[in-house]
Amino acid sequence: MAIRLADRMTGIKPSGIRKVFDLANKMASEGKEIVNLCIGRPDFDTPVHIKEAAKRALDEGHVHYTPNPGIEELRQAVADKLLADNEIKVSSNEVIVTVGANEASFLPVITFLNPGDEVMVNDPVWPHYFYCGLAVGAKVVRLPLREENGFLPDIKDVEALTTPKTRMLILNTPNNPTGACFPRPVLQEIAQWAKKNDVLVVSDEIYEKLVYDGTEHVSIASLPGMAERTLTVNGWSKAYSMTGWRLGYVAGPQDAIDGMLKIHQYTVTSATSFAQYGGLEALRGPQDCVENMRQEFDRRRQLIVEAMNSIDGVRCVEPKGAFYVFPNIQGLGMTPEEACRFFLEEAGVAMVPGPEFGEYGDGYLRAAYSESYDKIERGMERLAKALGSR
Ligand SMILES: Cc1ncc(COP(=O)(O)O)c(C=O)c1O
Repeated sequence: MAIRLADRMTGIKPSGIRKVFDLANKMASEGKEIVNLCIGRPDFDTPVHIKEAAKRALDEGHVHYTPNPGIEELRQAVADKLLADNEIKVSSNEVIVTVGANEASFLPVITFLNPGDEVMVNDPVWPHYFYCGLAVGAKVVRLPLREENGFLPDIKDVEALTTPKTRMLILNTPNNPTGACFPRPVLQEIAQWAKKNDVLVVSDEIYEKLVYDGTEHVSIASLPGMAERTLTVNGWSKAYSMTGWRLGYVAGPQDAIDGMLKIHQYTVTSATSFAQYGGLEALRGPQDCVENMRQEFDRRRQLIVEAMNSIDGVRCVEPKGAFYVFPNIQGLGMTPEEACRFFLEEAGVAMVPGPEFGEYGDGYLRAAYSESYDKIERGMERLAKALGSR
């Protein structure tokens, strides 16, 4: 029997990031030394005290379903964190603990968008957002983040793209793949626009702890009048190196949470019980592990930006957040796909073509500095050499 996909699946492509990752892993298994800069996950182990808390939870018998939105202590810890770090006031009932920020960011899309509604999405951005929008039959409208504007959204673009059908805006700051952090004045303009046009804002802040050079992370939900129309998405994956734990959250006004909870309870039931206890320890325990990782990322960031900018034909904006660089490679005379293949085959360095993150990513590559300093250094030397002997 030929199984027919639903019409709304048209346009949903398998992840191109995973394609490069799988190819890089295959080459590594054949004995080639690969510097793998294509996947967005910290290379550190999860801090020991967090692992111990999850082990303890298992030993203490926390092996059953938890309440649908998550254990009360964890939701309270999230609410406390949002107040202390982000100036966002929510109660523990206004938080759903999810299976990663991935689920947390899909919940608003499936809960609040009707087919044909327009959702404005940063471009370039983590591709998840384009495909979630398509999966629910919404129209995805691309809001360009241009290099000449420091990869920040421009309110003139936002206004020009607004129609009576604009229902939702999804923001991601610090941004994957550009590393841009949206400053307060930019978010203030967007907040004014959202209020004027009655738009719901989803703010994905998963990289908030990874900011550099004293950059301020601003949560749009903390701006006047925005708490009632913003859903803040975050999680443990990047700050605590817990990508495999699959733990995240969405926080926002009660009626929105109640709506999203219906989908969450019928699909996921609850996030993994013992992982939630690890998440609790992460928030309540010592935070020096986060700062240590941030400092190491910062060292690598400086190395890779300098190495990229020293290559003829490559121009790399210094990112202020996350753990990605997004160099412009138009001067190399190769498409991003050709450049990625060349770097992988000739230098053993794996990166992702910019168009994987949206059409405004054409002419760019994304490199995650989530390999060790020494490996990145070796990879960048090999890359410069391979380009020199073309
Ligand atoms: C912007 C952004 N949001 C969310 C996620 C997924 O986070 P999680 O592992 O918590 O599902 C990623 C992963 O790369 C990401 O880049």
